Amino acid sequence: MNLYYGAVVFAHVVSAVISVGPLFLLLPLIRRLRTANAEAEEIYLAFIRVIIRLVMHAGHVLVVSGVLLIIFGPWPWHTSWVILTISVMLLSGVFLATGFSAVLKKFHESGNTKEEIIKKLRRTAWIYISLMLVMMWLMVQKPAVW
Ligand code: HEM
Repeated sequence: MNLYYGAVVFAHVVSAVISVGPLFLLLPLIRRLRTANAEAEEIYLAFIRVIIRLVMHAGHVLVVSGVLLIIFGPWPWHTSWVILTISVMLLSGVFLATGFSAVLKKFHESGNTKEEIIKKLRRTAWIYISLMLVMMWLMVQKPAVW
């Protein structure tokens, strides 16, 4: 493997770790929101926003490095596991952009119960983790679906 290609694969894998790992921190933070007083609530929400921003930036590095791997690597873009990953990625991109931000914005709006929003946050976090794990499986296993 050429040195530059190896470096891009490494950057791609590191960004995959940073795109998925912090999501697992969301779950205990969301759980703690339930019983938090107003002051603690602000701190937990700030942490949740930092995690989402980190995951989003790492996701961008993941896509850029993935595109570079397709341009310079041995896999054509129409390989089945690449197409499947990109499809799931588009889904989860839309999801993270609209899902988390919309839910977080609603936190201080009236008319939404805290319990309802926490439930939505938890569901969004789990769906996102699942999508990321599906993509990770596709990338590592590289199944020839067609
Ligand atoms: C635009 C989307 C993506 C493209 C085009 C892409 C492309 C690629 C390619 C071509 C490789 C093979 C490198 C090689 O072995 O020579 C690879 C490896 C890998 N990708 Fe992606 N990727 C994308 C998104 C993702 C996502 C979303 C994840 C994780 C959630 C991910 C995780 C990985 C991992 C862990 C490997 C190393 C697996 C291995 O080679 O054993 N990638 N990617």
